[in-house]
Amino acid sequence: MYSEKVMDHFSNPRNVGEIDAPSGVGEVGNPVCGDIMKIFLKIEDNRIVDAKFKTFGCGAAIASSSMATELIRGKTLEEAWEVSNKAVAEALEGLPPVKMHCSVLAEEAIHKAINDYRVQQGLEPWEEKNHHTHGHEEESCGV
Ligand code: FES
Repeated sequence: MYSEKVMDHFSNPRNVGEIDAPSGVGEVGNPVCGDIMKIFLKIEDNRIVDAKFKTFGCGAAIASSSMATELIRGKTLEEAWEVSNKAVAEALEGLPPVKMHCSVLAEEAIHKAINDYRVQQGLEPWEEKNHHTHGHEEESCGV
């Protein structure tokens, strides 16, 4: 039921770990399944020069965080902000419908980490435009 890409990023996740003195950290959890994802960013000149993650969660959440950190590395903050959970799922060659919400955690964690950085810089946090991030708490986790 999982694509080869998902299996690959699940069994051999990229960018696992923490960053010392990160520029921004985003932690999100899904209260339904209890899974937690934490993303660390190192930002230089408005660009993400390093991204790492720690995820205590299902295989789809681990594969999503691995792929998400790969996608945002080297991007500007504006570009990284636009990386949606759909983009993460597409890069993974698809997730089963009951597992799409796991990729939402990655998008939310990236947004939180970027805003953590912005607030530390004395900047206004950016606003979420996507409404799917609100209310996914009520979705079943499919576990
Ligand atoms: Fe909870 Fe995937 S994130 S089941």
